Amino acid sequence: MARVGVLASGGGSNFQAIALHLAAQAGTSGAPHEVAVLVCDKASAYCLDRAAKLGIPAHVVTYVKGEREAAEAQMTSWLEQAGTDLVVLAGFMRILTPFFVRRWRGKLINIHPSLLPRHPGAHGLEDSYDSGDTELGITVHWVDEGVDTGEVIEQRSFARHAKMSLEEAEFRIHQLEHEIYPAVVKRLLDR
Ligand code: GAR
Repeated sequence: MARVGVLASGGGSNFQAIALHLAAQAGTSGAPHEVAVLVCDKASAYCLDRAAKLGIPAHVVTYVKGEREAAEAQMTSWLEQAGTDLVVLAGFMRILTPFFVRRWRGKLINIHPSLLPRHPGAHGLEDSYDSGDTELGITVHWVDEGVDTGEVIEQRSFARHAKMSLEEAEFRIHQLEHEIYPAVVKRLLDR
């Protein structure tokens, strides 16, 4: 049994997709795995409602200005208590310091809504869309000390048709994320 800790800031659709995929896979191939804990940095975020419905323990971390490492120490403590083997960033919109990255190196992954190295940062999808790129897509990558610079684990893309709206692009990105991210997490836990 391997345990995942998810960090999220918003809706938590990827968090839910991963939790449900691991639960559904538990009785089938390989060893069972689970999402053991959610950590969120926003008390009003919908991912917390999802965690409650899924019966997954959740914590809200408070970031005090200028004290990111204190927040990260708190997160690390919750992750350790939950026996976390893999930390999965799923729409976690804070930059992590080298302190946290070093602690979880090789056990810390992220999903980003662009084809990295194109369009890193907080607005990957909007930046991809506005750039006029004819291919849009997603990247799952290891997290290093840079912003969206870690080694790529998996990328998927789709062709953007001429009339595709931002909303349609976002829908397609989410669809792709919910298909790919849970499968990558499962594969890494099975290693
Ligand atoms: C996802 O699209 C993810 O790729 C993006 O936030 C969204 C979270 O959605 N992450 C980033 O932009 C990280 N830079 P969710 O809360 O519904 O899973």
